[in-house]
Amino acid sequence: MAKQSFAGKVVWITGASSGIGKSLALVFHRTGAKLILSARRTDALEEVQRECGAGPDVHILPLDLANLDELSGRVETALGFFGHVDCMVHNAGVALRDTAIHTDLEVDQRIMATNYFGPVAITKALLPSMLARGGGQFVVVGSLSGKYGGPLLSSYAASKHALHGFFESLRAEVHSDNIGITFVIPGFIRTPIATHALTRNGAAFGRTLDVHERGMDPDECAERILRAVERGKREALVGGLEVYTVHMHRFFPATFEALIRNHPVKRLNRLKRLFSFRKGESV
Ligand SMILES: NC(=O)c1ccc[n+]([C@@H]2O[C@H](COP(=O)([O-])OP(=O)(O)OC[C@H]3O[C@@H](n4cnc5c(N)ncnc54)[C@H](OP(=O)(O)O)[C@@H]3O)[C@@H](O)[C@H]2O)c1
Repeated sequence: MAKQSFAGKVVWITGASSGIGKSLALVFHRTGAKLILSARRTDALEEVQRECGAGPDVHILPLDLANLDELSGRVETALGFFGHVDCMVHNAGVALRDTAIHTDLEVDQRIMATNYFGPVAITKALLPSMLARGGGQFVVVGSLSGKYGGPLLSSYAASKHALHGFFESLRAEVHSDNIGITFVIPGFIRTPIATHALTRNGAAFGRTLDVHERGMDPDECAERILRAVERGKREALVGGLEVYTVHMHRFFPATFEALIRNHPVKRLNRLKRLFSFRKGESV
């Protein structure tokens, strides 16, 4: 398959105010893409816009993915900036860091709205314009938690599994309409995802985890995502040794479950010491 170029293409990135999304904005900007940057925090989006050079090719579009009623209007606004959207990057997300039994249902619903129903609402509102133009691209940032569940992650894992199911089904429906879908599965990336993660009553967890602090640099992650999308990959695992747990879970499910049952992070660190795979060779 020929390598796709993003020069002059319109790329809409959610979660562009922080972490992987911010790095994606800068990486796509360097390709010559026109950008629409979304998240809730306008000031943080303006900062990323400035880092991109603040030219006419970078618009910000603040939105809250959990406010499903506002999203079709936001899609109209996005289409109005450049007339169309070539590539939609569903990157925004919020994690959970608490036990299922103690987590308020409202928190589960907020996570499902942000990570699943929000992207689905945007996709449904955007698809007709892509089909009318003869094609488009979706990049969906999932998680290892979209491949297997683990302690303290219940509704986060559910939302990422749901994304897989939705976009795999969509891929089958639009396979002859020139709509590409790349599913990205990051491992541990050095971002404030744990700091922003919700706990049982909706309060933020408020601190980073060791695995993320020692994880892949978000700029490297964004470069790898760009390469995967340019090459039209269906799915890209991006991270260090931890991404191989996808295969371990698939082929040795019972052993894997026993391994992550109590302290997944501690066990993964132990695994990391046991093997000596080179980091970041998965894309
Ligand atoms: N870091 C990792 O190790 C890792 C691993 C696997 C998967 N991921 C996935 O990677 C994606 C990016 O996460 P990250 O690591 O870059 O974390 P992050 O730094 O916390 O970024 C999350 C982004 O999502 C936005 N966001 C959160 N809630 C939102 C809402 N209701 N409406 C709109 N935007 C919202 C945030 O912006 P505002 O706060 O301004 O709204 C922020 O820009 C997520 O989907 C996450 O699940 C990350």
